Amino acid sequence: MVFSNILNAVAVSLLAVSAIASPLPQAHHMHKRADATVGTRGITYSPYTSTGDCKSTEEVASDLAQLADYDLIRLYGVDCNQVGNVLQGKAANQTLFLGIFYVNDIEGGVQTIADAIQQYGSWDDVDTVSVGNELVNDGEATVAQIGQYIDTARAALTGAGYTGPVVSVDTHVAIIANPGLCALSDYIAFNAHAYFDGNVVASDAGKWLLGNIQEVSSICGGKRTAVVESGWPTQGSVNGLAVPSKENQQAALSSIAGACGNDTIAFTAFDDLWKAPGPQGVEQYWGIY
Ligand SMILES: *[C@@H]1O[C@H](CO)[C@@H](O)[C@H](O)[C@H]1NC(C)=O
Ligand SMILES: *[C@@H]1O[C@H](CO)[C@@H](O)[C@H](O)[C@H]1NC(C)=O
Repeated sequence: MVFSNILNAVAVSLLAVSAIASPLPQAHHMHKRADATVGTRGITYSPYTSTGDCKSTEEVASDLAQLADYDLIRLYGVDCNQVGNVLQGKAANQTLFLGIFYVNDIEGGVQTIADAIQQYGSWDDVDTVSVGNELVNDGEATVAQIGQYIDTARAALTGAGYTGPVVSVDTHVAIIANPGLCALSDYIAFNAHAYFDGNVVASDAGKWLLGNIQEVSSICGGKRTAVVESGWPTQGSVNGLAVPSKENQQAALSSIAGACGNDTIAFTAFDDLWKAPGPQGVEQYWGIY
């Protein structure tokens, strides 16, 4: 969840190629267009207080009440009973993009998810299960290891009765540099933030993101592609043309909504004050609400 990678600089030169990319593939199961009031298909959510403690079931429910217009809620982990709490707090017409964050205990993660599903919902509440977040980007896993993680997760999930998509999440930069990732996931899920590029003004964030969707889709042979994290910070350092502010966050999200909102999960519901500030001082300040 730390986005400070110098590799993002490479994205600029790759954009030049994206104009010739093929049209986006049809989703294998179609989702309705993003709700006009929120503009993106989903939003990411983390269940921590500003000091990093677990929010209670009631606090999670009150957070989720503010997010009721998003089709999809993305979670990153299974700690804090977050899967159970979100299943209880979400609306019936919302589904979940779940995450197994710690790849040293994938089977334990699946078990926690399966227990929560059994108690508070059904597998129909789950759109996708992801394993690992930006591990190749961060140099924490090889492509071969990601393959093993996905195989382990898929086997455990199938055993628990889940038959939907299983993916790993990485950055567009890591996928473009490691096309071996394309074959591993059931569809290609990536995080991409125009802020880190440094050459993109907020109001062009959607154009930039669509170019990256087309580039990744093209690299991956036209496979279905979804952005599972994109947003804009409201505080922190200026990065070239990218200026953090609330106004620019709104401009970026509106641009993303117009260009590719139905393929994008917005990052993120609330400020992450529990995180370290990061080198650019932006990590805590991506909250939309
Ligand atoms: C998003 O909209 C585009 C353009 O209408 C379409 O090609 C694409 O399949 C849609 N994606 C999803 C996930 O529905
Ligand atoms: C779910 O239904 C409620 C009540 O009808 C509505 O307000 C909300 O916008 C819907 N959410 C989605 C994601 O469609």
